[in-house]
Amino acid sequence: MTRHRVAIVGAGIGTSHLIGYIQNPSLYEVATICDLNRARAESLVAMVPTARSTDSFDRVLDDPTIDVISVATPPYTHKDLTLRALEAGKHVVVEKPVAASPADVDLLAAAALKADRLLVPVFQYRYGRGPRQLRRLIAEGLAGPPIAASLIVHWDRDAAYYSVPWRGKLATELGGVVIGHVIHAHDLLTYLTEPVARVRAEVATLVHPLEVEDTAAITMRLSNGALATSAVTIGAAGNYSLYRFVYAGLTAESGSSAYAPGEDVWTFTARDPGLQEEVDELVRAESTPRRNGFAGMFEDLGAALSGDAPPPVTIAEAHEALSLVAAIYHSAESGTTVDLPLAPDHGAYSRTP
Ligand SMILES: NC(=O)c1ccc[n+]([C@@H]2O[C@H](COP(=O)([O-])OP(=O)(O)OC[C@H]3O[C@@H](n4cnc5c(N)ncnc54)[C@H](O)[C@@H]3O)[C@@H](O)[C@H]2O)c1
Repeated sequence: MTRHRVAIVGAGIGTSHLIGYIQNPSLYEVATICDLNRARAESLVAMVPTARSTDSFDRVLDDPTIDVISVATPPYTHKDLTLRALEAGKHVVVEKPVAASPADVDLLAAAALKADRLLVPVFQYRYGRGPRQLRRLIAEGLAGPPIAASLIVHWDRDAAYYSVPWRGKLATELGGVVIGHVIHAHDLLTYLTEPVARVRAEVATLVHPLEVEDTAAITMRLSNGALATSAVTIGAAGNYSLYRFVYAGLTAESGSSAYAPGEDVWTFTARDPGLQEEVDELVRAESTPRRNGFAGMFEDLGAALSGDAPPPVTIAEAHEALSLVAAIYHSAESGTTVDLPLAPDHGAYSRTP
C-alpha cells in the first residue's frame, strides 16, 4: 500500500495532527510542516526528521508528491486555505470551525465535489472507547430513544491564552466559546443522539474583556422531542467536561477528562436493572483498547482515502455543526427561539462575523 504524503499547515494543534499521523505509520508519511513562524515548524520537524519545514503554503500546493493537507491554522484562514488546497488537487483535513457559516461550508463542499477530493472536518472527540460503546448500545437497541442530555464544558483560559492575536476577536476567531470550545460537545450530542431541531441561547462575556462571548447557556430540542442543555465557560477553576445522555433504556455518563472523552471510562446504567447484565456484556465486547482522538480519526481517514469507507467526519456533519452555531448566535442576539435546519435564506445561514 502506498503511504499518503501529508503536509501539516499550522504548528499549534498541528502537533496533535502530527502525532496522530505518526501513530499510523503504514498509512502516512508526514513530508512537510508549514507555518508562517518557521521556528515553530522546525520544532515539529524535530519529531519527524524525514519531514522538511517551510513558511510558504504555495510551496506546499506546488509539491506534487503531497496528497493530503491538514489545515490547522486559525479559524479565519480555513476557508481560503482549504479552497486553495482543493483547487490544487489535495485532500484536505480541516480544523474546527471549518468556516464561519453554513453558507461557507456549502462553498467548500462544492469545491471538494468539483475537485473530486475528500474534505474532512476534524471532530476527534468522537474517537475512543466510551462513544464507541454507546454507539454499539444504540445500534443493538439497548438505549432506545433519547430523552435528555446535559453537556458541561467548564474550562479555564487565562489572559495569556487570549494574548494570541487571533483569539477573542470576531474577525479572526469567528466567534467565542460557541464556535470554538463547545463545538466538540455539540458534535458529540448529535453524533450520539439526534439532530437539533430547535434552540434557545444566552451568551455573555464575563471572564475576559473580549469582543466575543466566553460563557453560554443553551437549551435544545432534538428532532425526536428530547431536550438537551449545554453550559460552557472558560472562566472555571480547572478544566472539566461532562456529557450525560439519558435514553429510555439507559443513562450514559462520560468521565470528566476535559479534552479527550474517549480516554475516559464511561458508565452505562440500565433503567431496568434486569437489563444491566446485557448492557455490561455489550460494553465489555467493545472495551478492547482502540485509539482515541486523532490517531483513531486518521486510521479511519486512511480507509476513506482508499475508497474503502466513508470519511470519519463528513462535510454534511460540519454543516450541521455550523448551522447550530449560527442558530445559537441568532437566538442569543434576537432573544428568539430558532428552528433547525436553517433555510438558506435565513439571515443566520450566511453569518459574517
Ligand atoms: N480539534 C481540537 O481539539 C482543537 C484544539 C485546539 C485548537 N483547534 C483549532 O485549531 C486551529 C489552530 O489553533 P491553535 O490553537 O493551534 O492556534 P495557534 O495560534 O497556536 O497555531 C496556529 C499556527 O498557524 C500558523 N499560521 C497562521 N496562518 C498561517 C498560514 N497562512 N500558513 C501557515 N501557517 C499559518 C501560525 O503561525 C500559528 O503557529 C483553530 O482553528 C482552533 O480552533 C482545534
